[in-house]
Amino acid sequence: MATATSSSSLLFLNPNFSASTSLFINRSLFLKPSSSSHLLQTPKPSTALATKCCLQTLTPTRPEYIPNRISDPAYVRIFDTTLRDGEQSPGATMTSKEKLDIARQLARLGIDIIEAGFPAASRDDLEAVRTIAREVGNTVADDGHVPVICGLARCNKSDIDAAWEAVKYAKRPRIHTFIATSDIHLEFKLRKTREEVVAIAREMVAYARSLGCEDVEFSPEDAGRSDKEFLYLLLEEVIKSGATTLNIPDTVGYTLPDEFGQLIADIKANTRGIENAIISTHCQNDLGLSTANTLAGAKAGARQLEVTINGIGERAGNASLEEVVMAIKCRGKELMGGLYTGINTRCIVMASRMVAEYSGLHVQPHKAIVGSNAFAHESGIHQDGMLKHKGTYEIISPEDIGLSRSSESGIVLGKHSGRHALRSRLLEHISDGDIEALISDEIFQPQIIWSLGDLQASYYVTCGTLGLSTATVKLIDSDGAEHIECSVGTGPVDAAYKAIDRTVKVPVNLLEYSLNSVTEGIDAIASTRVVIRGENSHSSMNATTGETVKRTFSGTGAGMDIVVSSVRAYVNALNKMLSFKTVSVKEVY
Ligand code: KIV
Repeated sequence: MATATSSSSLLFLNPNFSASTSLFINRSLFLKPSSSSHLLQTPKPSTALATKCCLQTLTPTRPEYIPNRISDPAYVRIFDTTLRDGEQSPGATMTSKEKLDIARQLARLGIDIIEAGFPAASRDDLEAVRTIAREVGNTVADDGHVPVICGLARCNKSDIDAAWEAVKYAKRPRIHTFIATSDIHLEFKLRKTREEVVAIAREMVAYARSLGCEDVEFSPEDAGRSDKEFLYLLLEEVIKSGATTLNIPDTVGYTLPDEFGQLIADIKANTRGIENAIISTHCQNDLGLSTANTLAGAKAGARQLEVTINGIGERAGNASLEEVVMAIKCRGKELMGGLYTGINTRCIVMASRMVAEYSGLHVQPHKAIVGSNAFAHESGIHQDGMLKHKGTYEIISPEDIGLSRSSESGIVLGKHSGRHALRSRLLEHISDGDIEALISDEIFQPQIIWSLGDLQASYYVTCGTLGLSTATVKLIDSDGAEHIECSVGTGPVDAAYKAIDRTVKVPVNLLEYSLNSVTEGIDAIASTRVVIRGENSHSSMNATTGETVKRTFSGTGAGMDIVVSSVRAYVNALNKMLSFKTVSVKEVY
């Protein structure tokens, strides 16, 4: 078994949030008892130092939503693309139910625009976006907020039709269409002239408007490497055709913050009609500069920022929502001309843990804002400072992102944690990592097509010279029928997976397998994560490259027995894969 890792954990006892309870247990906060009690004291907000911390907790009222105008020049819209660009991360494919759960949490977070997917990619994508549009796009929060639901489309009629078909059920639907504008993309990818690109963009924006969509976003892909004069001209044309938001993507994460800020300033200064549209940023993280570039864009006049939870996305990912939003919250007033967002930052931790769990992309411990070490004070000097005043080493209080230190043990509870008794009981009996592994295994389940009945595996050869392990696996199908198969393999996990393959009869490649002990000791719980890819089907289209890609599916499982844990993860991934629909989107409408 792999070495034990201590991990932070969040338990979603109810991922749909009705009276949900979350327990966030940060082991790194398990300080010496004498110190930890002092650490839990609340800083005095009235001191001069405290004003340097993020103590504001109320979400400011947001201006009324008008697609191409924001009545308050200091208000910045947050556009979340976790479900589209984020889902393009290798292995991050999510089920429709998972996407709906995440969209609900994004609404709770107060996201202005949710990019729910790329409907032309597959039938599954279209249906997921449509469900989100119907449900999340029609749920009015207590403060009257309803998020815009957006679907991505390349600049062609069939993509735009699919996007409209998916988002039109929302109260505030948006189509986001894009075409590349850099010379390298024009020459090698599109094989089109600049004139042709302008004509297509103009025509397709007008086409999207003609369908009845009053909120159309246009992106010149690879704007960060495009000729500026060409951009001004193109953007002017699409504004005339009806684009209400102009998104400026640094598609390959190439620009530096000053350069990107200047690009936004130049577009603002030189594009005719720009006052009739909102400028947006979309910064990839290839050089680790996406948050800095996004903030530079906001300072230069962008009033929509495209981000993802935990910064997930293509390659090195996107600007992370939590970093961008908390930077504006911390420094917006002082250094960014009073900029503010409508984000309810107390929902950040819940969103972060949910996306990590569903996407299988775990957050590094030292990740800004949401990493498990983000509020851990390990060194003696820091602890001493914290004891005297929290503002010495904390610029954000954990409460601001949805954590609250609530016990001497360092346990941090989520906003809705009313289940004190449950938490105490659980903690008395099992350790934190155990709770996370067990409950996430129960809660985060895809549609059940196959479930594990029984398992028997031999770890050692009892006689003979063959040296192979054997496993017998009983799987139960969705009608309740039992299927038993046995197989040999190079080890017990291999044997068990082969036995499962014999029952399920869908050829898959196992791309990744990792096993962690989440607690220490002989009775530790093993947590397994696998990533698989079907050999024959389950493909969809990559939004930016247009390539048909075979989807990968991740699965997690937990158990005290490593083979049981491994089998649960494999069955979990298989269920995700088997419930994914790939039929052409044309069959849907
Ligand atoms: O990175 C990119 O250019 C994109 C666009 C589709 C906005 O994702």
